[in-house]
Amino acid sequence: MGTRPLLNRRLAGMGTTIFAEMSALATATGSINLGQGFPDTDGPASVARAAADAVLAGRGNQYPPGPGIPELRTAIAEHQQRFRGLAYDPDTEVLVTAGATEAIAAALLALLEPGDEVIALEPFYDSYAACIAMAGAVRVPLTLRAPDFRPDLDRLRSLVTPRTRLLLLNSPHNPTGMVLSPGELAAIAALAVEHDLLVITDEVYEHLVFSGAHHPIAALPGMRERTVSISSAGKTFSFTGWKVGWVTASAPLVAAVRTAKQYLTYVSAGPFQYAVADALRLPDAYFDDFRADLLRKRDLLADGLSAAGFRVFRPEGTYFITTDITPLGEKDGIEFCRALPARCGVVAIPNAVFYDDTEAGRPLVRFTFCKQVDVLEEAVTRLGRL
Ligand SMILES: Cc1ncc(COP(=O)(O)O)c(C=O)c1O
Repeated sequence: MGTRPLLNRRLAGMGTTIFAEMSALATATGSINLGQGFPDTDGPASVARAAADAVLAGRGNQYPPGPGIPELRTAIAEHQQRFRGLAYDPDTEVLVTAGATEAIAAALLALLEPGDEVIALEPFYDSYAACIAMAGAVRVPLTLRAPDFRPDLDRLRSLVTPRTRLLLLNSPHNPTGMVLSPGELAAIAALAVEHDLLVITDEVYEHLVFSGAHHPIAALPGMRERTVSISSAGKTFSFTGWKVGWVTASAPLVAAVRTAKQYLTYVSAGPFQYAVADALRLPDAYFDDFRADLLRKRDLLADGLSAAGFRVFRPEGTYFITTDITPLGEKDGIEFCRALPARCGVVAIPNAVFYDDTEAGRPLVRFTFCKQVDVLEEAVTRLGRL
């Protein structure tokens, strides 16, 4: 096979994701897995039944339309109007994808030329770095720092160069739980307009905001025509395995993203698309109860982690809590997370893997609270033994 590495140089160093490593460790040690962000309870039974009914009635069992079934595209457009006050044409301005993950990949592959620079909030969700690399583009991190993880807007301005093509946002932000404020969004939008930048905004945690509210950047002046908004059913409806996501954007942007998307999966999740169309039309009470339940769990885990000696950064949104392990006499989150299952039977994720600036993330560790109350209570008891 010669000496040339099999993995191409764009993906070199991006071996197994940390989630695979830590989830395997959780299984091998019988630990409570507060690493990967998936709920241990499925979403609404009515939505699950709608998926089963669709399979049995032969709806979506064969290739659905490339852009997504019309019922779901209409439901997505209605959802954007109902919660965000944004009007999109279901036929030309909505695209259904295989989770937000495919939407991110398709958007970056469609919109970037090799050498383009992408400014992204660091720590980044791991697929961002890989997809920017696959597009041959260059990631330029805007580092969010403890304790409040607010973006430094002057620094952001200084990172823009003639090669900057787009800003990649994520709010509510995984893993820090930071939610961009209206003032921050306005400043970012003004910068995008001034430098004629595109914006991709990953809003998969849009319904998980505990303080303040989620504001879509696409609603700001000059932003509709330059923003690709991405969301997904996985987090909002607790069906992360269904992988139904979507893009809303202007017709030219959707056409570009669709061009890349059609050669990735082409289509996916036929019957689940019918069920997600129903889910998006659930009454407000569903969304309110979901958030209230997770708020209780956030506080349970945050209080437990504090009592166990961690420095806790209570998140404004998402279902993750970032902590600092320094008060426990620890320095390195990666070593700490590798040892944690054996020490007390809990799995967490070291934030350092989400940073280019690994020093900024070194003492930080992320726990998820999208688990049942008794599981979280047991985890807190175990962590208390540290
Ligand atoms: C910020 C962020 N974006 C995207 C995703 C993936 O979403 P999906 O499962 O819909 O592909 C996740 C999942 O953890 C995430 O945290």
